[in-house]
Amino acid sequence: MHITVVTLFPELVAAVGESGMPRVAIGTGALTVDTVSPRDFAVNRHRTVDDRPFGGGPGMLMIPETLAAAITEARRRAPGARVVLMSPQGRRLDRAAVQAFSETAGLILVCGRYEGIDQRVIDAMVDEQVSIGDYVLSGGELGAMVVIDAVARRLPGVLGDAASVEQDSFEEALLDHPHYTRPDNWRGQGVPPVLTSGDHRAIDDWRERQRLRATADARPDLFYQRGLDDRARALLTAEWLHSAATNV
Ligand SMILES: C[S@@+](CC[C@H](N)C(=O)[O-])C[C@H]1O[C@@H](n2cnc3c(N)ncnc32)[C@H](O)[C@@H]1O
Repeated sequence: MHITVVTLFPELVAAVGESGMPRVAIGTGALTVDTVSPRDFAVNRHRTVDDRPFGGGPGMLMIPETLAAAITEARRRAPGARVVLMSPQGRRLDRAAVQAFSETAGLILVCGRYEGIDQRVIDAMVDEQVSIGDYVLSGGELGAMVVIDAVARRLPGVLGDAASVEQDSFEEALLDHPHYTRPDNWRGQGVPPVLTSGDHRAIDDWRERQRLRATADARPDLFYQRGLDDRARALLTAEWLHSAATNV
């Protein structure tokens, strides 16, 4: 898959490919990432890319022509790629959106700066708008990097064990279960005995109960997405009874 980021700060975006799963994805050839800067299409000698908003008000806006030229160049490099504007006014990024992005051949992630971009560019060139949360960043680059990281780990062959995506938080609309590693006694705290029992069925049951419990405690809204079947209801009830009895 190919991702082009339209940004005034290409050096910021470059960092996403230097570590973690994006680096692995780029190394295996599953992902290529490049950048296009609107500043390269500026026509005056100051290489201006912003101007004052019509109607007055604080701040500046990215001017349409240089941004449009950069998006056109990105489309030339990745024909058919979806043009996604990073924007607080967009649909909130979630697991389903990341999965859908990872199944496309390409994305063009457009990063706003200043007070944002001219609406006419959105109307003419943007396929969808995506927000990474209900807060305002100074630019779209961190959001684009979030998309790249989240997409990279879903690309085929990137994670050593594909099962680790399946057990991640938000798969099946559940949060992840707790994890433990050596030593089995750390500062006086042990690990749940079932994890060292060798009984894989019991371990699977314990993990499923913990996923249900973590979700019920922290994100009960996710149950609206997945519903609660009889098995999940029984496991959750058993987990609550167990924790009430042992005061865990
Ligand atoms: C300072 S913000 C503009 C905020 C805009 N005036 C508003 O209130 O909606 C500049 C740019 O940062 C990016 N940005 C800010 N917050 C974001 C968020 N939560 N998700 C994605 N991109 C964001 C967008 O590309 C935006 O054009």
